[in-house]
Amino acid sequence: MSTPGLSRLGSRPAEDVHGYSSPVKRVAGWLRPAWVEVDLAAVTANVAHICEVVAPSVVCAVVKADGYGHGAVPVARAAVAGGAGHLGVALAEEGHELRQAGVDVPVIVLSEPAPEAMRLVVEDKLTPTIYTERGLAALLGAVAAQDRAAAVPLHLKVDTGMHRVGASPAYVLELARAVVANPVLALEGLYTHLAVADDPADPYTQEQLASFDGVIGALAAGGTRPFLLHAANSAGALVHPGSRYQMVRPGIAIYGLAPASSMRGHPSVRPLRPALSFKAEVSYAKEVAAGEGLSYGLRYRLSASSVIATVPVGYADGAPRRLSEVGGQVLIGGHRRPIAGSVTMDQILVDCGPGAGVKAGDEVVLIGRQGDEEVTAWEWAERLGTIAYEVTCALSPRLPRIYT
Ligand SMILES: Cc1ncc(COP(=O)(O)O)c(C=O)c1O
Repeated sequence: MSTPGLSRLGSRPAEDVHGYSSPVKRVAGWLRPAWVEVDLAAVTANVAHICEVVAPSVVCAVVKADGYGHGAVPVARAAVAGGAGHLGVALAEEGHELRQAGVDVPVIVLSEPAPEAMRLVVEDKLTPTIYTERGLAALLGAVAAQDRAAAVPLHLKVDTGMHRVGASPAYVLELARAVVANPVLALEGLYTHLAVADDPADPYTQEQLASFDGVIGALAAGGTRPFLLHAANSAGALVHPGSRYQMVRPGIAIYGLAPASSMRGHPSVRPLRPALSFKAEVSYAKEVAAGEGLSYGLRYRLSASSVIATVPVGYADGAPRRLSEVGGQVLIGGHRRPIAGSVTMDQILVDCGPGAGVKAGDEVVLIGRQGDEEVTAWEWAERLGTIAYEVTCALSPRLPRIYT
C-alpha cells in the first residue's frame, strides 16, 4: 500500500525506518499499524464550499476538541486556506495551542473563560465570550494587569432558548452598556447558539432567531451595533439562510460530516467530503473451527470454520465495546466483514469467512473507504445510537494522526 504525502502533526516527514509498508510504520516511533488519516485538502474544500454557500457572511471554523478529533492545528491551517477568517475553540488552552503553533487569525473562545483563564486569553489575543458580570470583571482584571494599548475585543453571548450558556436577552443589554462604556473593551460581536437547527422543519429555530433579532434591535435603538452578529452552526449555515448574519460557525461540516444523518441528502450538504479515515492492518489471521466462540464471553459462535483476523485497535482507541453487538463491520480486501465478539481494550476480531485469503499486513478500514465500499462515522453513530460528532471526538490520542 502506498500513501503519498504523509506527514505528522508537528511534524517529521514520513521516513522508512523499519522497512514496513504501512504509513504508520514509516513514521519513526510508531510501531503499531493503526492510525487516523486526515485529508486536509477535504477540510479546505469543505470550508471553501461553506464560504460559497453563506457569502457574504464570513466563516468561523470551529476546531475545538482537537478539531473534533482530527487535530486542531493542521485543521485550523487547512480551514484558513479554504477561506475561514476566524476560528472557534471551547477552551483558552485550545486557543493557546493554536497561537503556539503560529496560527494568527482571530480565535473566539466559545464559552466564557473561567476567571483563572482570562490572563491567558488576553496574553494570547484570543477573543473571549462574555455573559456574566463575574466574567466581565475577570476580563477587566486581566486587561489591567497587562497594560494593553488597544481595546480588547469581546463577543457577548445571548441565550435565546438553548439554555446552556449565555445571558438572558434583558441582561445582555446591561452587559453591552457596561462594555460600551469602558474604553479598554470593544464590543466586536454578539451571538447566540441554535438548539434544533439540524431539524430544518422545527419552528423553534425561527423563535430563537426572532429573540436574537429583538436583542439586536434593542441594542441598535441605544446606538450600539456589534459588527459581527452570528448564530449559525453547520446546520444553520447550510440550511437556514436567515441564521447567517455576518458570520457562521460551522464545526462538523468542515470535517465533511452532515450535522444530522437525515441532512445528508440536502443539496448544500452533499458536496461535503469526509476528511477522516480510521485504518489499521491485520496483525494476525488464522482458521478457527466450527462451534468455537470468539473474544470475551465467547458470545460470537462460528457455525462453520472461518478465517478470523485480529486487528490491533480496541476501545482504548475509541472503537466502542458495543460496536460488535450492534452489527459493526470493517473493510478488508474491499469487502464488509463483521466484527466478531466483544471489542477488547486493544484488539478486535473480524470474521472474514471460510477460506478467506486475508493475512497479516492487510489494510483494515474501520471508518473510510476501501475500493467501492465505505464505512462512515454516521454509520457507527447510527448503530450506536449517537452522533458522528461523538464518534470522531472519541478516537483517542493513542492513534497517530497522519495528514495527507
Ligand atoms: C457555540 C458553538 N458554535 C458552533 C458550534 C459548531 O457546531 P456544529 O459542529 O454543529 O457545526 C458549536 C459546537 O458545538 C458551538 O458550541
